[in-house]
Amino acid sequence: MKNVTDYTQSNRAAWDASAASHEGGERWQRLLAGFAQPGFSTLDSTATSALQRAGIEGGRVVQVGCNLGSEVLSCHALGAAACWGIDISPEFLRLAERLNQQAGRPAHFIFHHKVETTGFKPVSFSRAILAAVGAGQRRQCTVFGVGSEAGGLSVLCDSREPTYFSRWLFSEADVYALPSHVPRDFDIALITIGVVNWMPDLPAFFRALGGLLVAGGRLVMYETHPFLEMFEPTGATPFAPTRSYFRAQPDVLGEAHIYDGSAAAAAPPSYWFAYTLGEVVTASVQAGFALRELREHPHCNREAEYRQYEHQNAQMPLCFTLLADWPGDKEVRHPK
Ligand SMILES: C[S@@+](CC[C@H](N)C(=O)[O-])C[C@H]1O[C@@H](n2cnc3c(N)ncnc32)[C@H](O)[C@@H]1O
Repeated sequence: MKNVTDYTQSNRAAWDASAASHEGGERWQRLLAGFAQPGFSTLDSTATSALQRAGIEGGRVVQVGCNLGSEVLSCHALGAAACWGIDISPEFLRLAERLNQQAGRPAHFIFHHKVETTGFKPVSFSRAILAAVGAGQRRQCTVFGVGSEAGGLSVLCDSREPTYFSRWLFSEADVYALPSHVPRDFDIALITIGVVNWMPDLPAFFRALGGLLVAGGRLVMYETHPFLEMFEPTGATPFAPTRSYFRAQPDVLGEAHIYDGSAAAAAPPSYWFAYTLGEVVTASVQAGFALRELREHPHCNREAEYRQYEHQNAQMPLCFTLLADWPGDKEVRHPK
């Protein structure tokens, strides 16, 4: 039985191994061309409308599991005052920074470069800092802080100069291990397609999201519907449910994560957790969120092979949006 950290480390390795295949294809070229244009957004009308209902205009948005950053950048196009992306995969964040450059660098993507040390001997400490600064330079980002954490040094690298230097930006990109100096003043926490299922601990995930928000902040979730987990779209009988809605063990995947249906290369094992809709909603409420709305939708928001489930007479739900308020007890607010 793995713990959350073990699962996350494996998942990080698999996502890192997947990044190269997302660079250079037709979708990547479309994103590069798109973000060179002001106002470009990849968010569909459902996500756009959910963010607008949550009051994105002028707000500070953080997306957890931002992947290659296209949605963080799109939030900027929707009028967000500040957009931040968190992800465990430095390789995907490298792609995010590339798109950020195309868009004129409106967003913050935070690289976490953790250097393992054997104690804090002066020699390992200085080597670690040099390694971290080198990593920052390779990624063309600014290294602006070094701190100690259990197991090593935490090096803070931001992809652009911080607006308020006195405020620490993220040093850790794992939602389960956000250190104390991470800002807690976001107005909106955004979760989109295919993030929840990488989370080994749902209650802790929602508590972490709440911890990122100001009192009165909002969670906006636009996820794939758990009902889809019962079907295998590329199997022999794609419309016959073949897997339990209530299965408890994660799927162990051994391939790179590709969205376009092309052949995926082998990758380190990664762990996909199927949750019921009830588990998702209950975990959010028990973490302290006040549910505003839960909408189920008949359109597909995931890979192309799932589009066959659209436009059926007996239509099943294919995705959902969840909006919830974080009552919280924090008064922190920075100028926008
Ligand atoms: C399917 S992708 C999200 C794609 C995104 N919805 C989009 O359309 O661009 C899932 C992302 O979650 C990230 N992730 C997984 N576990 C995480 C964790 N513990 N903390 C932060 N990010 C995580 C992965 O690295 C991956 O980039």
